[in-house]
Amino acid sequence: MTASGTGATAAPVAGTPVRVALLGCGTVGTEVVRLLTGQAADLAARVGAPVELVGVAVRRADRHRDVPAGLLTTDALGLVSRDDVDVVVEVVGGIEPTRQWLLAALRAGKSVVTANKALLAEAQGELFAAADASGADLYFEAAVAGAIPLLRPLRESLAGDRITRVMGIVNGTTNFILSAMEETGAGYQEALSEAARLGYAEADPTADVDGYDAAAKAAILASLAFHTRVTMGDVHREGISAVTPADVLAARALDRTIKLLAICERVVGEDGTESVSARVHPAMIPRSHPLAGVGGAFNAVFVEAEAAGQLMFYGQGAGGAPTASAVLGDLVAVARNRVAGGRGPRESAYADLAARPIAQASTRYHISLDVADRAGVLAAVAAVFAQHDVSIAAVRQEGRTQDASLVVVTHRAPDAALRSTVDKIAGLPFVNAVVSVMRVEGEDQ
Ligand SMILES: NC(=O)c1ccc[n+]([C@@H]2O[C@H](COP(=O)([O-])OP(=O)(O)OC[C@H]3O[C@@H](n4cnc5c(N)ncnc54)[C@H](OP(=O)(O)O)[C@@H]3O)[C@@H](O)[C@H]2O)c1
Repeated sequence: MTASGTGATAAPVAGTPVRVALLGCGTVGTEVVRLLTGQAADLAARVGAPVELVGVAVRRADRHRDVPAGLLTTDALGLVSRDDVDVVVEVVGGIEPTRQWLLAALRAGKSVVTANKALLAEAQGELFAAADASGADLYFEAAVAGAIPLLRPLRESLAGDRITRVMGIVNGTTNFILSAMEETGAGYQEALSEAARLGYAEADPTADVDGYDAAAKAAILASLAFHTRVTMGDVHREGISAVTPADVLAARALDRTIKLLAICERVVGEDGTESVSARVHPAMIPRSHPLAGVGGAFNAVFVEAEAAGQLMFYGQGAGGAPTASAVLGDLVAVARNRVAGGRGPRESAYADLAARPIAQASTRYHISLDVADRAGVLAAVAAVFAQHDVSIAAVRQEGRTQDASLVVVTHRAPDAALRSTVDKIAGLPFVNAVVSVMRVEGEDQ
């Protein structure tokens, strides 16, 4: 500690610098440059060698007056291929041409730090193979849940345990919209417009509201948690655009709230065979569940492991500075590995578990029906559940004048059985409308 106890700048560190190429200088990249240059002395002390920014690739060089002109280029592949680059930090996004740039870097033995969830969820195997062939590092903490240290704990801290489940809120935009619907009673479109006005939703919100972003993150989380290569195509995906104010009210009546969840589970079949279930969909969770209190643009992920028990990770899941924090953490890690002459963890996909289709996933449903208020309705509805082998956990019926509201919550059953049950019920003559159908999570039954 210094005599005054105030923060002191680290003494200059000698040694061969670790030379960094930055691809992209937008929301995240700008903050990476700021942190990298603003705390250069501290980073050098932590790494054991200076960390030097040698080039920044962008699309429109004239828009980046804050970056020294000598560093800017529009030729990302050219920058990656330079001999004076040791580490490539990629914060551009998208699958092509980014994939080609990162493969070129890894094949040349340059370590890569990326925030690109879309690319990892599509091509992690190819990228890791290139990293393994040359002995380079591939780190991607910022790709899931922004600032929250989550992938390193899965990859390293929990590497001696057996993870059984990862469940979380990994998309801030949809969480903001669902929170707004809950708090103000707004419909989906209204809440989406508000999110866009406040900068929480992009001009084209498809990737967020249709669940693609969360599904890419689920693929990455499931891969790390279950030592299996899980890609986007293995993840069942439903977005939030079909969530209605009636769903929100139905949840509230049962002291539940609706969240878009990414759920990755290790499933052990009756014959002992294991598989991985990865899905993204809106679900009701009890208000008492730790994820229920995660509001606005925050992210939180619940991890369950056999020895560790339950762990929860919470924090800012997006934004320039929070995401740059995760990028810089990775940069320090790969730079340290370089200085020490070692490597970080490789891909661990040895378990190679099969992907379990959603039809076989075991879920619970909450079904709210508008039915004719007459004798025998409840018994007839219950009979349909029994025919499909779906066990009912709770029923609530409220009569009005000529019709009634009937709410059924089921026990866990295969998703396919629940869907067929709902389809059959929707066709019954005394069912006026299926008001709300929503999966229920966070209750072990
Ligand atoms: N924003 C977040 O909160 C957040 C959170 C977690 C992860 N991420 C991930 O981080 C990555 C970057 O996100 P962002 O929000 O920072 O994106 P952004 O603001 O749109 O910035 C993208 C940057 O890439 C540059 N670029 C685009 N095409 C290029 C090309 N062909 N050659 C060279 N440069 C090119 C752009 O250049 P110009 O500036 O010249 O157009 C821009 O500087 C994405 O993978 C995203 O998923 C973002």
